[in-house]
Order: sequence, then structure tokens, then C-alpha cells
Amino acid sequence: MTASDEPWWRTAVLYQIYPRSFADSNADGVGDIPGIIEHLEHLQWLGVDGIWLSPVTVSPNADWGYDVSDFCAIAPEFGTLDDFDRLVTAAGERGIRVLMDIVPNHTSVQHPWFVDSRSSRTATHREWYVWADGNEGGEPPNNWVSSFGGPGWTLDETTGQYYFHNHLQDQPDLNWWNDEVRDTFDGIFRFWSDRGVAGFRIDVCNVIIKDAELRDNPPATEDDDFETQMFGQRSVYNANRPEVHEVIRRWRRQADSYDEHRLLIGETPVPVDKLAEYYGDGTDELGLAFNFSFITAPFRAAEMRAIVEETEAALPPGAWPAWTGSNHDMFRFPTRWAEDDPAKIRLALLLLLCLRGTPVLYQGDEIGMGDVTLERDDLRDPLGVRFYPYYAGRDAGRTPMQWSDRRGGGFTESERSWLPLGDVATTNVAAQREDRDSILSLCRDAIAFRRRHHEFSAGDATSLATPEGVWAWTRGERHVVALNMSPEEVLLDGMAGTIRLCTDRSREVEVAGDALRLAASEGVVLELP
Ligand code: GLC
Repeated sequence: MTASDEPWWRTAVLYQIYPRSFADSNADGVGDIPGIIEHLEHLQWLGVDGIWLSPVTVSPNADWGYDVSDFCAIAPEFGTLDDFDRLVTAAGERGIRVLMDIVPNHTSVQHPWFVDSRSSRTATHREWYVWADGNEGGEPPNNWVSSFGGPGWTLDETTGQYYFHNHLQDQPDLNWWNDEVRDTFDGIFRFWSDRGVAGFRIDVCNVIIKDAELRDNPPATEDDDFETQMFGQRSVYNANRPEVHEVIRRWRRQADSYDEHRLLIGETPVPVDKLAEYYGDGTDELGLAFNFSFITAPFRAAEMRAIVEETEAALPPGAWPAWTGSNHDMFRFPTRWAEDDPAKIRLALLLLLCLRGTPVLYQGDEIGMGDVTLERDDLRDPLGVRFYPYYAGRDAGRTPMQWSDRRGGGFTESERSWLPLGDVATTNVAAQREDRDSILSLCRDAIAFRRRHHEFSAGDATSLATPEGVWAWTRGERHVVALNMSPEEVLLDGMAGTIRLCTDRSREVEVAGDALRLAASEGVVLELP
């Protein structure tokens, strides 16, 4: 593939914005679209090529935007459709593309489709959702449970049938066997694509088709992972159905019908062998698929390397991986992987930005923002509210962006933000921008390096033999990435070249003759002699 026919997103760095927590322009404590526009300069300076916005569409916010009640309108707390159009234009002028989050699996209970659907068994939208009679004992139709805890079925008194929800009761699942649902979503994709949106992150992409016969899920066994055992069943029939691929192929045809193909990036929390299936033949399903085995891997060379190699081996020819360490559901890698240790945070950033694939940063990753400890009264995620203290929910990774050390962190002028801020004095964009040694400067320089060296960001990668605790690979013909993920200094014999990037910035342009010394948690990009 030459640079000219390569899709833009292969060499791109993507960046997830959680709009509620990015920048508040009108002092109501909630981030908004004008706030994003005001901070495009930061994203351009950082070198970001595309931003994915968590949902900005209308929602009663039972699940903070992931319960949509109008797929083609902007939620008032975020602004207007005009603001959104201004964002697309202003971002475009800075070379930044905008991706929407689309939630095809379910709607809000307040969506007019569901309001109609539940009104009678013969309603126009009845078949748009998954309705079924209870079984003879008056129990739910089958044993499916919600991934948010509790039964997956809720009895609706009006019509005496149950509706199915893979998440909250407030998020009824759509019936993707229904052609009108499919056609309607084609229209939603077109609505946003025609406004200049460069692609879509598809929410719970693996879940949208439910077994047509509503068969019971099989019980979990001792061999299953922790989560499966916790739910007591394997999600064989309420998710992960093979027929989902036909739907994704349909979306891809539509995405490719635009002169500049729209990117489809899927939320695909499935094992690596299944993940590969979501790329279809490498050209006809998702353009990128989030790799949850990687996100949840321990920050150790052997384990991470194994997952990356397994992924590379599993993907069909022509497919391209995506790498991410944080998002609004899975918390922040600076805490999860790096235990808030700056050296490890730097190492993890270098790792994300140097693997073969598209890195997707989450807002705050660039300054090493970690999870924020919250009090019970601060919690806003329905899962935290429901399961505290056993599970505090996802808010710790959703707190506002820390722009400066001012009161409100440069995020808001309001007395209160919707979630409390972390420690803005120690971690903020403004201070790190001034500091050549900061995490932010390293992140920016690594992104710039990718951009300068196309063969680095687009080239092949081959793992190299290394001592335990070290992970190294080639990028293209001229570079080697070497990461010491162990707590001991190592000496890598036979590794020679010029250090072009290093987590310890004072070592850049040092020349390694025939052996490379790496301190604990140190990583480099070497240019080969
Ligand atoms: C996805 C979203 C998550 C949401 C869920 C239900 O996993 O990322 O935030 O709660 O879908 O829509």
C-alpha cells in the first residue's frame, strides 16, 4: 500500500474526548462543544489527527449519553447542531477529523420509538425492540442477565410482555432483525456523515444481534474468566452472534460509499481470535477494533507482547490494529498499568505510540492523568451508585480534564463541576506545556516523530529476542523500539544506534555502540546505524 491509497486513520493518532469532562465554556460545570472548539489548539499542538466524541446526542443521561433519545440532535447541555457544525469546520481547518459515537444496540426508554413500542402490542414500533412473553411460571422469557447486573428482562405492565436490555432497564435493546431498524440507522449514519463526520465509534458492536430463538445462555464453568463466572453464564445468545457481521458489512458498504471513506471503529470487548472476525476479510467490516485483551493486560513485557503478537497473527491481511490504554469505561492507564509512577506512565505512552497500529489516546493520557479517588456522594455513574462500595463505578476515570492549576482546573468557572477535579496542582496541561521534560512534551514529541517518519508509523513490526522484562521490536527498516518494563537496569547486547526518543529526554541523540543500557522503566526509539 502506498502512502496515497492508505486510509488516513492508519498513520493517525486518535483522541477520545469525553465531552462532559473536557471543557466547560458556559460555567455550568458540564463540558460542552464550544469548550471543545476553544481547545482545538491544544489538540493540534499535540498532533492529534482525529477526535472521537463520546455521545453528544440527546439523552436523559441514565447512562451519561449512552441512553439516546434522539440520534440526530445535540443535547442542549453540549450546545446546538450549529455548534457541532462549527466544531467539524474548525477542527477540519486544523487538520483534525471528528468521529461520532453511535449507540445502535439500544435507546433510552424515553426515545419516542420506545415510548410508542411499549404503548401496545400492535404499535408501529413494537417490533423495533426485543419483546417476549414470560414463561409459564410467570418468569422472564429466558435466563439472560444484564451486563450491568440483575435480570436482562423487565416486565412492562401495559402490554404484559417483557423487554430485553443488555444494560440498564432504561436502555431497551433494539431488535436488529428488523429491517426498519437497519434502514433507520443507515439514515443516522448518513445524517452525520453528510455533516462531515469522518467516522463512528460503534458502541457495544458485538452485542447488537440477539438470538432469534431467545435460547438460554449456557452456565459458566470454572474455566471461564472472572466476569463470566460472576454473571454465572456465557453470553452466547444475548451477544456475540455471528449474524452481527452481516450488519457491520452493511455499515461498511455505506462508510465506503463516501469519497473519503468513513472510519468504523468498534467497541469490541471480545477475545483476540473473535476480535479478528470483526475486521471481516480485512476490508469489509470494521476499520479498527478496540482490543480489550490489551487494555486489561498486566503491564508486563511477556504478557503484553503475547497479546500484541497474537493479535497481529490473528488479523486478516490488510487489517490494522488499534491500541488504547484508557477510556471512559476502563479507567486510566497511568493508574491501572503504571500505578501513577511517572517513569512507567512515560513508558506506557511510548509503547502506545510505537506499536504497529493506530493509537487511541483518552483525554488526559497526554499529561499522565490518573484515576481520581471519589467519595460516595460524588458518584454519578449508575453502576457506582448501585454497587458501591463493592464497585465504585467508572467515575474515577471520567473526572474533568486538568488544563491548569487554577480553581476549576481551567475546566470550569463554576463553583462545582459535575464530577470533582483531581489534583490540578500537580498535573495540568499548562505547566507541562512549559516543561520540555514533561509527560506532555514526550507525548507530543513521540507523535511528531511518527508524523516525520512515515515508515515508522506505517511500517511493519517484528519482535526481537530480548531478556525477560524487556520488549523490543523493529518499526519499518530503520528503527527499533526497546522498552525495559522490569524494575532492574538491563544491558541489551548487540543493540546499536542513535537514540531518537527516550523516556529520559536527556538521553536523546546518545549513540549506543554495540550495547544499549536501559534503566528500570526506561524506553527508547533507536535509529539503526
Ligand atoms: C458502552 C459504553 C458505556 C456504556 C455502555 C452501554 O460500553 O462505552 O459507557 O455504559 O456501552 O451503552
